[in-house]
Amino acid sequence: MTLWRGGRLATLAGESGWGLVDDGALLVEDGLLRWVGPAAELPPEALAAHEVIELGGALVTPGLVDCHTHLVYAGNRAHEFELRLQGAGYAEIARAGGGIRSTVAATRAASETELLAGATRRAQALMGEGVTTLEVKSGYGLDAATEARMLRVARRLGELGVDVRTTYLAAHALPPEFDDADAYVDTVCRWLPALHVEGLVDAVDAFCEHIAFSPAQVARVFDAARRLGLPVKLHAEQLSDQGGAAMAASFQALSCDHLEYLGTDGIQAMARAGTVAVLLPGAFYALRETRLPPVAALREAGVPLAIATDHNPGSSPTLSPLLMMNMACVLFGLTPEEALRGMTVNGARALGLADRGRLVAGQRADFCVWDGDHPRELATCFGQNPLKERVRLGASQGE
Ligand code: NIG
Ligand code: FE
Repeated sequence: MTLWRGGRLATLAGESGWGLVDDGALLVEDGLLRWVGPAAELPPEALAAHEVIELGGALVTPGLVDCHTHLVYAGNRAHEFELRLQGAGYAEIARAGGGIRSTVAATRAASETELLAGATRRAQALMGEGVTTLEVKSGYGLDAATEARMLRVARRLGELGVDVRTTYLAAHALPPEFDDADAYVDTVCRWLPALHVEGLVDAVDAFCEHIAFSPAQVARVFDAARRLGLPVKLHAEQLSDQGGAAMAASFQALSCDHLEYLGTDGIQAMARAGTVAVLLPGAFYALRETRLPPVAALREAGVPLAIATDHNPGSSPTLSPLLMMNMACVLFGLTPEEALRGMTVNGARALGLADRGRLVAGQRADFCVWDGDHPRELATCFGQNPLKERVRLGASQGE
């Protein structure tokens, strides 16, 4: 048993509020939080702690959960950034064979070792800003072998000291060897069982958009997921309102992500299904999107808000969860508390994980120790990294 004491804890224990505990203590046993509260009220069993770590007044929050990334890929798309700055649109570049398809070509040509090297560097950057749980999607292979390779690489990132959840996103774009989207969707459904048997898939995702797949096509992929008992999530209403979120909610989706063009029906359907809204300010910013996700309506409907980096080489080449928290406040109007909840407890919920994201007894002992006086500073400051220590399953992770 380890006792951490003398920190300012942002526990996020209740449904709202920071859950601040001054001069707080955390008792950790077997990777879990056994007790959390004011040091002055420590229970007698704390005397049995074999190690006592002084926090010296530092700020402690739950470990960050980046619930939406495309971390495994090869190549880069800096040239598309230049094109967009000259006025080209994301959809236009995609239709001309750039976008996702250009990353697919580079990823197919890369070995597992090369993919792992790039993804390792990126995962370490996220971990260096406090990420303890990370979701990683496939979707740059779009053939059976490369999708499997991506998911294997994603799994191996778990060896770095971060918890990895993998998501099958073969329905990301139409690969060049197909001209019939329906035929490709059938193929995507056929690949899934073998990947599932190999233990490579924790959830199934798709890109529902006019440049990708229709709600009816995605529903077939979700049917295949349901047959295997796998949860689903969706890239929905990023560029237009396709009704994807409502369709996903009818499958009890864990999350719908992006959502700039989400309408009232989608919001209500998500609220009824308990689907998390994952906001991705990095993509909004980099694509110079002007349509805002309907944050006030989502809030009013009681839809939990999460935030993620959406790290990918095209629409969101960022590796900074803290910057995303800041952007969620500045661009989308979230409060700093909503931003922290979005990158912790609600991010976990978007992955179907209820065992992390708050500092309360019984949860995993995944937490971050930061320089700072108040947790609101995490979303206030940008381009800075105040992380002092990242603790996963009770163990301090030297970066
Ligand atoms: O979440 N919107 C679709 N998928 C990714 C972008 C993929 C890419 O452009 O490579 C996203 O933004
Ligand atoms: Fe994405």
